[in-house]
Amino acid sequence: MDRALPAELFGSGIVAAPLAGGPSRPQLAEAVSRAGGLGFIAAGYKAADAFARELEAMAATGLAFGVNLFVPKAEEYDREAILAYRERLRPLADQLAVDLPEPRWADDDGYPAKLALLLESPPGVVSFTFALPPADDVARLRARGVFTVQTVTKADEAKAAQELGVDAVVVQHPGAGGHSGAFLSGTTPAPAGQTLAELVAQVSAAVGLPLLAAGGIGTPADALTARDAGDSGVQLGTVFLRTPEAGTNPVHRAALGDPAFERTAQTRAFSGKSARGLENRFMRDFADAPSGYPVIHYLTAPLRAAAVAAGDAHGTNLWAGTGWRFARDEPAADVVARFAG
Ligand SMILES: Cc1cc2nc3c(=O)[nH]c(=O)nc-3n(C[C@H](O)[C@H](O)[C@H](O)COP(=O)(O)O)c2cc1C
Repeated sequence: MDRALPAELFGSGIVAAPLAGGPSRPQLAEAVSRAGGLGFIAAGYKAADAFARELEAMAATGLAFGVNLFVPKAEEYDREAILAYRERLRPLADQLAVDLPEPRWADDDGYPAKLALLLESPPGVVSFTFALPPADDVARLRARGVFTVQTVTKADEAKAAQELGVDAVVVQHPGAGGHSGAFLSGTTPAPAGQTLAELVAQVSAAVGLPLLAAGGIGTPADALTARDAGDSGVQLGTVFLRTPEAGTNPVHRAALGDPAFERTAQTRAFSGKSARGLENRFMRDFADAPSGYPVIHYLTAPLRAAAVAAGDAHGTNLWAGTGWRFARDEPAADVVARFAG
């Protein structure tokens, strides 16, 4: 069984996670790949033409890099629950003087257009999250020489990804910042309190693929423990959010360094899908928000934009993993060097 990640792509085995919503701009991906890690750009939430420009900018560097795709999933929405949530958000919208959009019941992430761009101009690595892509998409990318990766959160998902034919898996622990990539419900949940190293060991026993450990890694010691458990690389997200190369919005950036925020928690309030962020007022006020991704993502988008414009850290999503206290304002190359040891 070969667990090795190809060094020509993954360098020292330190991957800067795809961070959709702004942080993962080409400057960050380029700085990480130049420093001997693997930088990623994130196609999620991005129009296909804007994504095409980022892809072109990265290809022009001549460096290895990765691209992450959100895989659309046919969801059944509880329309009544989402419409009731919209009514609960209305007073806040009135206060901020924004219109709450009509719910968009479709997933219009533009996945087919983005996949076509990747087949035309293939990067070294493509990773998928939120669902398994069609097997044919994986096969076509691999035929173009792309190394394919699936995000999984438990052993059953890793087995399904292996059957699909991907080259590696990201093993994402619930301590991860941002959205969970879980896609199999109804299977055994991870035991409460399971560490990242324990999860990695479990996945490593279940599949014969190279692994990337992710979720809650704040220090090089955390990374080492996780790597040892599965002979794996690591994918780090939150520790890059305050680097100058990241496109993290100023409100999010400041909150990550603000001692007034005391903990992270998982919430569906912003997007309708479970994601981890610094616990703020919006999360507390709407702790019982319904599920319904990406309908709720689009519904709350104007509220979040208005909060960012007003500099209000309590009205927007502040995605962060449990290791957020270790995110510093330092060049991305220094983060890579620190974790490469
Ligand atoms: C701001 C933010 C945006 C994210 N966007 C994506 C994304 O677009 N695609 C993806 O697969 N994962 C995304 N993630 C999850 C990361 O890939 C990764 O699992 C996570 O950052 C690892 O945990 P850590 O943040 O504790 O290091 C995001 C995480 C954050 C914090």
